[in-house]
Amino acid sequence: MKDHFYVTTPIYYVNDVPHIGHTYTTVAADILARHNRMLGKEVFFLTGTDEHGQKVEKAAEDKGISPKEHADKMVRNFRSLWDKLNISNDAFIRTTDEKHKNVVREMMQLLYEKGEIVRRSYEGWYCTPDERFWTEKEIVDGNCPDCGRPVEKIEEENYFFLMSGYQDRLVKYITENETFILPETRRNEVLGFLRTQSLGDLCISRPKKRLSWGIPLPFDENYVTYVWFDALLNYYSATRYLAPEGAEWWPATHHLIGKDILTTHAIYWSTMLMALDMPLPGNIFAHGWWTVEGRKMSKSLGNVVDPFEVVDAFGCDAFRYFMFREVTFGLDGDFSRDALIGRINNDLANDLGNLLSRFLTMAGKYLGGVIEAPGSPDAFAGECSDALSDALNVTNWSRLKFNVILDNIWNIVRRANNHIQKKEPWKLAGSDTEALKLVMFNIWNALRQTALLIYPFMPGTAEKMWGQLGLESLTDEAKQSRGIFEWDWKPGYDIKVSNGEQLFPRINTNKTNKRKQKEARGKEENKAMEEGLIRIDDFAKVELRTAKVISAEKVENSDKLLRLKVEADRQRQIIAGIAKFYAPEDLVGKDIVIVANLKPAKLMGNLSEGMLLAASDDEGLSIVTLENPVKTGSRIK
Ligand code: ME8
Repeated sequence: MKDHFYVTTPIYYVNDVPHIGHTYTTVAADILARHNRMLGKEVFFLTGTDEHGQKVEKAAEDKGISPKEHADKMVRNFRSLWDKLNISNDAFIRTTDEKHKNVVREMMQLLYEKGEIVRRSYEGWYCTPDERFWTEKEIVDGNCPDCGRPVEKIEEENYFFLMSGYQDRLVKYITENETFILPETRRNEVLGFLRTQSLGDLCISRPKKRLSWGIPLPFDENYVTYVWFDALLNYYSATRYLAPEGAEWWPATHHLIGKDILTTHAIYWSTMLMALDMPLPGNIFAHGWWTVEGRKMSKSLGNVVDPFEVVDAFGCDAFRYFMFREVTFGLDGDFSRDALIGRINNDLANDLGNLLSRFLTMAGKYLGGVIEAPGSPDAFAGECSDALSDALNVTNWSRLKFNVILDNIWNIVRRANNHIQKKEPWKLAGSDTEALKLVMFNIWNALRQTALLIYPFMPGTAEKMWGQLGLESLTDEAKQSRGIFEWDWKPGYDIKVSNGEQLFPRINTNKTNKRKQKEARGKEENKAMEEGLIRIDDFAKVELRTAKVISAEKVENSDKLLRLKVEADRQRQIIAGIAKFYAPEDLVGKDIVIVANLKPAKLMGNLSEGMLLAASDDEGLSIVTLENPVKTGSRIK
């Protein structure tokens, strides 16, 4: 039986037009899907749209059409973008699909019968734009802690999923499954959160009188469920009615998401699955965000990157390549025309395009376009095979290290360019035909391997190369996935290559030196970021100060939190999750270190104006104290 590989993107809200953020996740999933099909696995690649909720209802109302009509219209944008970007999704789910709604209702009923969903009277602070409730302790100065907009107090009966009961099990699961959440920094973030904060229960309903555009609850028709409970279940419901039959597709291999929706996936979705006694996905990967020329991308700044425009101007494959070569998947990245043009001119036109066109010109001129396999491979073929194995490295692929993979592929391109420089086929022509044939075969084979390897990233380009190298449809070949990477030539095998369309014409630029310098600086900074380094001015942003603990007491109803009064630059209250490790009285009088410029937050209704530094391992936790106290409140630099 074939191995199964199931990859998902978030389902995108239909109230927005697609931008680079949507494109990024979807192309990443496409790369994984194509790669795994080439490895011979049976693949299910799912994307789709999230269509319920207040925002959609409101947008439709403003336009004077029904929410479904509005959704139908918006969905077209996504579908046509995925066509334009050569996305090979196997299915497109819409949360308004009747079959999806049925699965949601079935799962709700199950949880209700198990006592995992209960009805409660609820008073909370509601953020209308974000469509979610916050508790008193979570809001910041009357505003939503997420988007900063004002919240309103609402009291009503609602249904709750008892998420709080799963906190310890979830911590254990994440701890034991190292690659469940990637990249590691995000995993640590989720663990840090779960170890210091208490999980609440999740409100999953809205009274129909307030919101009708949702899925009616099976056990109470006066309520609907919407947004997260509905949306997250798409990953499972799709396996029930959209995936190829005859196999069990749940759990997914990878959920690809942006960093802003990690909590909903890592916590809400995981605990929902635990309550349903279902296995958790193999991996949740949260990628970073794109800024545009150094600034946050936003409608109000008018700098939203429109993928339709980028593809029209630069081509689908150049855009796909850029996104995954320029930035480590997982970190934030910056989009700029200059950076994109730089990648096109250097990596694509110069390194790759020139290699192919030089090869084809020489093959035509010296060998009448016929490439012949030698009796036995030479050392160069061995080097290329090693580079090919590197590019297929399983760990790099399972950890989504796309830029490392692309760099490994470019090793073959670089090697082939050097091989031409070193062997100088133009000198061999007419003097040593056998040596010439061997060199030309070597280059042909390196280009063949390159085409195979870039196929997941740039399927159109790979296909063009394949044709020019005298081979038949790569797409057909890739779909059949028959040991495609283990191809071996037979002596005497010959093939007719033919010069064709240039892969990537160079783009003319009149860059000023200033711009070039900026790019170089950007590159250096990117490199430093990849290595986990920060600049001194990044560090200087953190205001560390010495502080003396004046008093300490337990926070009511919490076994984790202590309320400290400390003297630093001024008197501050700090809520620290250290109650399991320190008795309050042991802390009084200690000289500790705090982060003084942390945005104040409320923890269980208590204002916390800073954070103390502590180190922890599996066994315990130790706060950072001063060996020789200096003046209280001194800045640490
Ligand atoms: O969140 N750079 O839908 P959505 C990179 N319906 N990624 C970005 C970005 C940027 N500048 N801006 C946004 C939803 N994104 C839910 C998902 S899944 C069960 C439900 C990403 O349309 C963002 O991280 O708001 C998110 O992954 C996606 O684009 C937008 O999703």
